Amino acid sequence: MTDRALADLAYDMLSRSYVPYSKFPVGAALLCADGTVFTGCNVENAAYGSTICAERTALVKAVSEGHRDDFVKLAIVGNCSDFCAPCGACRQMLYEFAPNLELLLGREDREFIKTSLSDLFPMGFGPKSLN
Ligand code: THU
Repeated sequence: MTDRALADLAYDMLSRSYVPYSKFPVGAALLCADGTVFTGCNVENAAYGSTICAERTALVKAVSEGHRDDFVKLAIVGNCSDFCAPCGACRQMLYEFAPNLELLLGREDREFIKTSLSDLFPMGFGPKSLN
C-alpha cells in the first residue's frame, strides 16, 4: 500500500469523527505487515476526559483483533493548517507496541509529512523499562 493510499484511508475517517465539543475531527489508519489496515476516528464525550483519540481508536481495534507486533505505519490526519501530530497519551500507547513506528502526519490540504515515533517520542517508557 502506498503512503498516499494509507493517508487517504485516514482522511476517509474524518467524516466518522464524533466531535460535538472540539469540532476538530481527526482520522487515523494503521497498516499491519499482512496488509490489514485498521482505521479510527476521535470519539468525544460530554465528560471531556473520556474522549478517545483517532489513533488510539485504530490501535485498540488492531490489538483487540489479535495484532500486536506487526505494525508498520500509521497515518494521522486532521482538518488543520498544521500537520496533525499525535498527543502525548497516544505517543505513549503507540510506544508500547511499536516504538519505531513510521508515521504520516496530514493536514487539511491533504499534504502529509513522514516521521517516526522514535523521533517524536525518544527514550519512552515501555515494556522493557519494567525489567
Ligand atoms: N485528537 C486526536 O484524535 N488525536 C490526537 O493525537 C490529538 C487530539 C482529538 C481529541 C479531541 O477529540 C480533539 O482532537 C481535540 O483535542
